[in-house]
Amino acid sequence: MQLLDGKYVSEKVKLEIAQEAAAFLSDIGRKPHLIAILVGNDGGSETYVASKMKNCEKVGFKSSLIRYDLNVTEAELLKKIKEINEDVTVDGLIVQLPLPKHIDPEKVTETIDHRKDVDGFHPVNLGRMMRNLPCFIPATPYGIMMMLKAYEIETAGKHCVVVGRSNIVGSPMSILMARNANPGNCTVTLTHSRTVNLKEMILQADIVIAAIGKKNFITADMVKQGAVVIDVGMNRETSDQTKSGYKLFGDVDFDSVSEKASWITPVPGGVGLMTIVGLLKNTMASAKGEIY
Ligand code: GUN
Repeated sequence: MQLLDGKYVSEKVKLEIAQEAAAFLSDIGRKPHLIAILVGNDGGSETYVASKMKNCEKVGFKSSLIRYDLNVTEAELLKKIKEINEDVTVDGLIVQLPLPKHIDPEKVTETIDHRKDVDGFHPVNLGRMMRNLPCFIPATPYGIMMMLKAYEIETAGKHCVVVGRSNIVGSPMSILMARNANPGNCTVTLTHSRTVNLKEMILQADIVIAAIGKKNFITADMVKQGAVVIDVGMNRETSDQTKSGYKLFGDVDFDSVSEKASWITPVPGGVGLMTIVGLLKNTMASAKGEIY
């Protein structure tokens, strides 16, 4: 087994982004700017947003966090988004999900100007991604593609089984792996909670992408010898063994699956770190006016 090391690849790409950001500052006279909106104070969302902000600063971006109480109205949130859409000094805007039930995430996503939608969730960006046109690619799938590329994992002609069909990871991932590109050119099976014979499906995979949100769901008996295994799981549990008070678990039972996999991502230290890089790459591309 060999490790797909998110720490190594993410640090390497962040150095490249930092150079681009420095050149942008000297040419344009300002830093690339990302705004994150956080509603409420869910522990997981707090951690992820703090990490996004910290990494922006690390590569020389400006980052701003706008916070709202859980009871903010949908109208107030949409008004703020429209205001930011008009601000030419802002390159990227993300609204951290999940949102409270009284706010429609689809309305929020569609209100963000697609040219600032560095999460890549807007229908314009998703549509363009399907057609292989310039767009913002959702950060986690983008990060996974960068990792496959960095390790020169052969994907053409392989059978990729994606487990989970979320809008954020599983669905866009299945499209990217099937595109006529490198990485890509896979035969893709997108599986989900209603899939019959899930184990038999996963057993056929040359590449498994696990994005179901269930701790240690994929076990060794479900994985073909020599498969490439990408673990998107971010299952957080309280722990008295860590400084933060939390421990992160993947969707893959690493100890057993790593004995069969040819390549595997660890959790933590794998896909999570690459997600942030996807977001930074999109923000840099937006600042440079690459997406219109
Ligand atoms: N919640 C979980 N993942 C994400 C993400 O990539 N972007 C946003 N905005 N919210 C999330």
